[in-house]
Amino acid sequence: MNITGVRIAGVGHFVPEQVLTNADLERLLDTSDDWIMSRTGMKERHVARLDEPTSDIALAAAKNALAQAHLEPRDVNCIIVATVTPDYAFPATACVVGSKLGIAGVPAFDMEIGCSGFIYGLTVAASLVRAGIFKRVLLIGAEELTRLVNYSDRSTAVLFGDGAGAVVLEATEHDSYLGAELGADGSAPENLYLPFSGTAQPPPTAEDLAAKRNTIQMNGREVFRFAVTKMIEATHVALAQAGVTPSDVRWLIPHQANRRIIDAAAKQLNMPSDRVIVNIDRYGNTSAASIPIALSEAVAEGKLKDGDVILFVGFGAGLSWGAVAWRWSANGHAAA
Ligand code: ACO
Repeated sequence: MNITGVRIAGVGHFVPEQVLTNADLERLLDTSDDWIMSRTGMKERHVARLDEPTSDIALAAAKNALAQAHLEPRDVNCIIVATVTPDYAFPATACVVGSKLGIAGVPAFDMEIGCSGFIYGLTVAASLVRAGIFKRVLLIGAEELTRLVNYSDRSTAVLFGDGAGAVVLEATEHDSYLGAELGADGSAPENLYLPFSGTAQPPPTAEDLAAKRNTIQMNGREVFRFAVTKMIEATHVALAQAGVTPSDVRWLIPHQANRRIIDAAAKQLNMPSDRVIVNIDRYGNTSAASIPIALSEAVAEGKLKDGDVILFVGFGAGLSWGAVAWRWSANGHAAA
């Protein structure tokens, strides 16, 4: 098989207008700005309107990424949406986005792997391009987790926000993809899951609904421990594949789930904070959208230079984890 190169030709993001601050949460729950900031690093998050489905925010992010790439929707050959908050259980949200972009007929599918969605999606999308199957793949991470949150449970209510980030991957001579590591362990789904959302359980009873058992359930401490361990392990494997060391990494772009998780991982990787992209204070945990939103902001701020090695790393429901090492190439020629 002829392997071609792949690069990110454009990146964009979109967050809904409405903002939920820690002060707002203080009015809803027994919590405080001080607790939320010190335990999570979060200050505010965005919340989609009820008439603003995931496909709408995915569409807005996709349009921004296409505009940055100077491309039209018709230039896209495949659409992937990473989400656990689709418009419907079926059809796939990617199909809806394709139709809203005016390119019905283009292959489209969703990937449902929680907060690892962008990492998995980037690996799959890059592979499709490198294998010569599609010239351009539009990859979107889009989530509206606030729809699944129990706003009377302080241990989860403060964590999540809505948003979308998108990249356009395209075939090119020089390869930005350097290496990747993915993993998953589904032996204890209840550490982070949405009960009564599928076929594992009978439909929720009135009592289940009253107790809000059909909202996000999480063993925070367990997920925290797992996250730091797996982020480090996956990083080392991806970097070894890429033939680089942590000191070669110019930018660490981690999933934004908790500032303390990011800081612990960065410390173990000897990555100084000025090489770590963090925006959790403004968005909270946007699951599969958090990494492409952080990338989009870093590009908009002019932080990424041609040839920079980037390490994308994430974890989430599954439990799942992954890391991708990537060489930034603004124009497709200088990524050497
Ligand atoms: N405000 C005030 N107090 C709180 C709050 C809150 N919002 N939440 C919990 N507390 C209290 C607890 O009740 C507990 O009180 P107690 O000691 O009297 O029992 C105390 O704070 C400590 O609770 P812990 O759960 O031990 O707090 P911790 O420091 O672990 O922080 C947190 C909790 C923020 C959830 C943390 O464990 C975490 O971030 N875990 C990882 C979560 C994560 O990354 N999820 C990924 C989701 S990805 C996806 O795929 C959807």
